[in-house]
This record gives sequence, C-alpha cells and structure tokens, in this order.
Amino acid sequence: MLRVAQKLIESAYTSQSKLLARHGRSTRYHSFLSTHMPECSSFPNVKSHKELYDYSVQHPDNFWGTLASSRLEWIKPFSKVSNCNMNEGSIKWFEDGELNVSYNCVDRHANVTPSKVALIWEKDEPNQVEKITYKELLAKVCQIANVLKSQGVAKGDCVTIYMPVSPTAVAAMLACARIGAVHNVVFAGFSAEALAQRIQSASSETIITTDQAVRGGKIIPLKNVVDDAVKMCPTVKRVLVGTRTGNSVPWNDKDINLEEAMKHENDWCEPEAMNSEDWLFTLYTSGSTGKPKGIVHTQAGYLLYATVTSKFVFDIQEGDIFGCVADIGWITGHSYVVYGPLSNGTTSVLFESTPTYPDQGRYWDMVERIKLTQFYGAPTAIRLLLKYGDSWVKKYDRSSLRVLGSVGEPINHEAWEWYHNVVGNGKCPVVDTWWQTETGGIMITPRPSGPSDKIEPAMPMRPFFGVSPAILDDKHNELSGNDVSGACCIKSPWPGMARTIVGDHKRFFETYYKPFPGHYFSGDGCHRTASGYYQITGRMDDVINVSGHRLGTAEVEDVIDEHDAVAESAVIGCAHDIKGETPYAFVILKEGHTVDEKEFGEQVRRMIKEKISSFAVPEGILLTDGLPKTRSGKIMRRILRKIAVNDIDNLGDVSTLADPSVVDKLISLKRGAS
Ligand code: WT7
Repeated sequence: MLRVAQKLIESAYTSQSKLLARHGRSTRYHSFLSTHMPECSSFPNVKSHKELYDYSVQHPDNFWGTLASSRLEWIKPFSKVSNCNMNEGSIKWFEDGELNVSYNCVDRHANVTPSKVALIWEKDEPNQVEKITYKELLAKVCQIANVLKSQGVAKGDCVTIYMPVSPTAVAAMLACARIGAVHNVVFAGFSAEALAQRIQSASSETIITTDQAVRGGKIIPLKNVVDDAVKMCPTVKRVLVGTRTGNSVPWNDKDINLEEAMKHENDWCEPEAMNSEDWLFTLYTSGSTGKPKGIVHTQAGYLLYATVTSKFVFDIQEGDIFGCVADIGWITGHSYVVYGPLSNGTTSVLFESTPTYPDQGRYWDMVERIKLTQFYGAPTAIRLLLKYGDSWVKKYDRSSLRVLGSVGEPINHEAWEWYHNVVGNGKCPVVDTWWQTETGGIMITPRPSGPSDKIEPAMPMRPFFGVSPAILDDKHNELSGNDVSGACCIKSPWPGMARTIVGDHKRFFETYYKPFPGHYFSGDGCHRTASGYYQITGRMDDVINVSGHRLGTAEVEDVIDEHDAVAESAVIGCAHDIKGETPYAFVILKEGHTVDEKEFGEQVRRMIKEKISSFAVPEGILLTDGLPKTRSGKIMRRILRKIAVNDIDNLGDVSTLADPSVVDKLISLKRGAS
C-alpha cells in the first residue's frame, strides 16, 4: 500500500503541472518533501523548496547533521557536525564519528535486498551486458579486500587503481574503502609517465590493473603501460593484475594474478571502523602549474554529499537504473557511478565503451536495452552526436528516461536544445551540473527546485542545498544583486569539499583559500543573470578543458620545453566545436636551432602523448621567435588566445607589452600557417 502511494507521488512529481492545478503549489511540494525528505519534519517551518534551501544554508549543522544521521549508517555516531575555518582552509565534518563507506554502499543494501542488481556492466563489445547483485558485489569487495590484506596492505596505505570501468574496478575501490586503504584511481587513458608521477606523488606501493583494456573495439595494452610506469617507481611492491581479455601479457616478479588470489580468499571481510576525517581517496587533477594536484577526499562528508546530491539532483526513485557514462578515472565516475548511486541502493550502469562504437547510436541503444531512467554525460559527446543527426537517436526507445544530466564543461545552447528536444523528446528535465574534483559533488544545478520552477537552457542556475555561492570582484568584494560577473566562490563550507592536496597543504591553501580570504575559490568565472541564476563563464586561470578533461597549459608547456631545440613555449586553449577547447602551442626555438617543422611537430605531439595523454596533444604548433610579454616578462595569453583563432580585430590593449611588434609578427606567421 505504502509503495503504491509512494509511486503515485513520485510520478506526480515528474508530471508537475497536473497536480499543481489540483492541489496548489505548497501542498504539492510539501507532499514531495514528506516523501523524499522526511527529515524536513524536524526543520521548523519548511514547506517549500525555497524554505528548505534557506534552512539548509542558514542552519547547515542542523541540515547536514540530520541528513548524515538519517542517510548514512554509523559505527560510532558523531557529536559534532562541522568544524571548518575557511580563512585557514581547515575543513572537518562529523569529526568524532566513525563509519565504513563500503558498508554504506554495499552491505546495508545486500542485507535487505541481496538480489537487487547493483551494477550493470555495459561492456565495450555491443550487446554484452553483465549484471552483478548487491550480494555478489559484497562478496567481490570482501575477496579483494582480503587479497589486499594478505598482501600486507594496511589502513592508510595508498592503492593505485589503473583499470577500465568494470565491476572489478568498482569492487577494488570499495575494497580499499572497506579496509581503510586510500585509493588513487588513475584514468586508464593516461600514459606511463603520467601514471608514474601519480604513483610516486601518492607514495603508493600497490597497483591494481588489468591485462588489457578494450575501448571502441581496440585493445589497449594496459599492463605494458603499468610495467613501464613501475620501472620508474622502485617503491612499488606489488601489481595485482585482473583479467579483461585473457590475452597473454608480460609477467614480472611483482605481479599477482588478481582472480587467482581472490579464489583463495574468504568472501567476508569485516569493515574497518573509519574516522569521518580519515582519507577515502586521492584523485589527481590539473592545476595551473605543471604538477597535477592530488586532491584528497575524506570518508563521511564526501559520502554524504555524493549520496544526497545523487538522490535529489537526479530524483532517484526505487527501481531506477542510473546511467552515468563517465569513466571511474574522473571525479564524476567516483561520485555518480560508484559512491552516490550505490549509497542510495540504486542500480548503477558501468559504461565501458565510447559514444560512437559500434556506431553513433550506442548510447540510445543502451538506453533502450537497459531501460535507463537517468542519463548523465558530457557536452562534448552530445556535440559530437548531434552532428550525425536525429535518426541515430530516434531509432531507439528512450521512454524510460526521466532526467538528463550534463557535466564537465559548459553546454552550449545548440547541444542543450538537442539533448532536451531530441534525446529527451522534450519530456525530461536537463540538468546542467556545475562542480569540480575539489567540490566532491554537484554544487550548482537546476534541480532540485520547487515544482513550478522552470529550467533555463544551458546554465546550472541554482545552488544545491547547503551551497552559498558568492561572486567576487578583483578587490575581493562580494557583488550583490543580479546581472553581475566575477570570480565564482563559495562562502560557506559543505560536507563534500576537498580537505587537502597530497603532500602540499600549502598549495591547497594558496590555490583555494588565499585568493579570496574566507571563501573557497573555484578558479572559474561566473555570471549571475538578471533573474538571479548562475552561469559559468569559464576558467580564470591557465587551465583548459579538452573534451571535459581538465588540463593545465603548463603541463603541456613543460613537455614541449623538454625538446632539445625548444627555448620556450606558451600553450593556450582555443575553442573547438566538439572538444570545447583544444590546446594550441606557440614555440620559440633555441638560438641557432633550425628544425623541419613537420618533423618537429610530430616529435612534440609524440612526446605529449607519451608524457601526458592523447587528449593533451595540441591542435596546432606555431614556431615563432617572440611571444607577447609584459615588461615584467609575463606572457599575455589573452593575446595568444585571439591570435590562435584569428580573432585579430579584438586584441585589446597591447601597449603594456615589452615589444608590441611581436603581435604583428605572430599574426602574419599564423596566417601563413593556417
Ligand atoms: C571544471 C572542473 C565536474 C566534474 C567533472 C569535471 C568545468 C564542470 C561545468 C558546467 C561549466 C563546468 C569548470 C570546473 N565545469 N562542469 N556544468 N558548466 N563548466 O571536473 O575535471 O575537476 O573540472 O570543469 O571549469 O572548474 P574537473
């Protein structure tokens, strides 16, 4: 009976207008709140979305404390909710509580609904799906946890995971969480050098990988990449190798066959009691220097934030099949493939393939077969697919979809409209979600919202519960009112925020808390529209976004500068109609060096591919003998950005350059090159 009533209210929420007409606004939202956020009964006078949002930011400890108690299971309850000092960059949530993240994501569902499907693995090979129940996932997590323990991995140790998306990879992450090891997932598209850098920086002695990976029908020699990385990391003690293809791969002293080792282990492992502020994982992301930052997230606050955002942004209901197509190597995969959906006891899809394999209908074919209720993807894929026309979408039944999500970069109007009208048939809300590796979960998003609140195309619009955005000018003043632009900051703490950077708390403070004292600075620019909605205007630092992948231009410059003939380089991002942005390099050769331009370009591209990844390879490389610099020697990238896209009528003020004639030279060189 209760379930029937719940279903009714749920479907009513999706077809908002009908009910609105019958019951009026506040009663309707009130019924939604009492069904989906029963916690509201303990928040005084909260009857509407606005009242709930206001309550969440005005009484954050009551709000988050209540949700932490009701939505997570604790081993030792917390007595204190938050203890944060944004002036110092010191963040603690639920600091005296203890819980286990893997217990919350797996056991509590396996205990009640053991045969419910936890993961649906949409393998690269079309039409090959593997399902794994909560009970099976629990056994797998425990076995891997026991393998790690038998191998001597202890609480606090760092385990690097370099694997394609698969149930084993998810189980490996959860196995670390179970025993209190810190996982460090490295996207399996990164090169051996990039992997080695992340292994070393995180002081990781253990690696989990697979023999090979398969993506878009192509085999990727994952184990070989790991072997090359391990050669550069003498501190690595063991490499656990899972099986993906079963093809034979080179085998070394440190290698252990993961499946063989699991066979000898028990399928029960007691979950470790973890303090809320113990580290859960590190995840490397690009910053404005050549060195990636190991962002650290802790246990309870991160899990709570991933749990609550998943539930409310995507309106997750019982029976839903949640499809986030991100790779587990990025934060989106951590929060919305693994931790958020599983903590809610949802069925989560693991997408191993690409949007165009075997053809441009792959996503929608999957939607029809698996009956996805939510689809969460990146604008770059939407832009790519829309070019192939509507027929690839319309061929498939997408009527199971209720919510469409976009993440990783701004979504342009054309892509948003196509996503909404063609993919969603005009029926599903499209949520453009703004957040970052550092924020742990979604921060600005059109949903949740009040029942009559419309979604404006192509912007994230509204802060999530408990999130207080602030737009600051360069004098650190918060801009009030609407129709203002400035630095996108957050002025009060939320549970999902990053706690530090591995081995460099100073950099953490200087990057996020020093620029605008008392605030978290995201690095993005932001506009609050005349209607009071938030729109992200792009990065304010030297970070670019290539197909939703964050890349520091300095990382690319560092690689180019390693070339023997190079004196100096400057890399900027230029607009690209599918990738969003793509790197473009300006290079000065050393005195007396001449190169064959074509050959030089190939060498540099190869180096970048080997040292970073193929997404970091520049679209164009221009040899020059001068760069636009200020008198103090700072490269004015603003000018290079314009030259790279031939937008030379709007160069702005060049009078502060040490040698303004450089600009004309660059323009004519660029003309000759393009
Ligand atoms: C940067 C964070 C968010 C998880 C995946 C990427 C850009 C992200 C949006 C959006 C405009 C966006 C920002 C942000 N970004 N989402 N909806 N609209 N820009 O995480 O690699 O940490 O990158 O991606 O510039 O700072 P990330």
